[in-house]
Amino acid sequence: MIRKMCVEDLDVVLKLEQQLFSSCWTYDMFYQEITSNEFAQLFVYEVEGEIIGYYGLWVLYEQAQITTIGIKPSFQGKGFSKVLMDDLIQKAIDVECEFISLEVRISNFKAIQLYKNYGFEIVNIRKNYYQDNYEDAYLMVKAIGGLS
Ligand SMILES: CC(C)(COP(=O)(O)OP(=O)(O)OC[C@H]1O[C@@H](n2cnc3c(N)ncnc32)[C@H](O)[C@@H]1OP(=O)(O)O)[C@@H](O)C(=O)NCCC(=O)NCCS
Repeated sequence: MIRKMCVEDLDVVLKLEQQLFSSCWTYDMFYQEITSNEFAQLFVYEVEGEIIGYYGLWVLYEQAQITTIGIKPSFQGKGFSKVLMDDLIQKAIDVECEFISLEVRISNFKAIQLYKNYGFEIVNIRKNYYQDNYEDAYLMVKAIGGLS
C-alpha cells in the first residue's frame, strides 16, 4: 500500500534514510516537506504494515520532480522500486504534468538504470552537485502526457 507520509512515520523513515543515502535528509527537512511545502508530496510504501520504501515529488505547475526515492536495503533487488516508479509517474500524469525530472549521482548505476528503463534520458550534468563529496549529478527527464 502506498500512502501519504505523515510526521508519525519519521522515526522509521529517518532510519531508512540513514541506511540509503550518504547525504541524508534531516527530520526538519522531512517535517518541512510534510507540513509546509505546498509543492511537496511524500509517500511511504507499506508491505504488511512495515514501511519498506518512500518517495517524494515536487509538483511545480507543468513539471514534476522526484525529490527522493528509496527501498529498504533488505527489500532491494526484488522489483519493489517499480511499484514506486509506477505510482509516482501516474500521480504526475493525473495532475497533467508535461515532464518529470530528477537528479542522480553519476555513480548510482542502479538508480540510473531504473530511470532509463522508465524512459528517463540524461539531458545535462550538474557539476559538483552533491555537497558531501562534490560528485556530479545527471539531470534526467522523462516527457509525459501533459494536457489531454
Ligand atoms: C534505487 C533503488 C530505489 C532501486 O530499488 P531496488 O529495489 O534496488 O531495484 P529493483 O529490484 O526494484 O529493480 C529495479 C531496476 O533497478 C535496476 N537495478 C536493480 N538492481 C540493479 C543492479 N544491481 N545493477 C544494475 N541495475 C539494477 C534495474 O534496472 C532494475 O530493473 P530490472 O530488474 O527490470 O532490470 C534502491 O537501490 C535504493 O533505494 N537505493 C538507495 C537510494 C537511492 O540511491 N535512491 C535514488 C536516488 S536518485
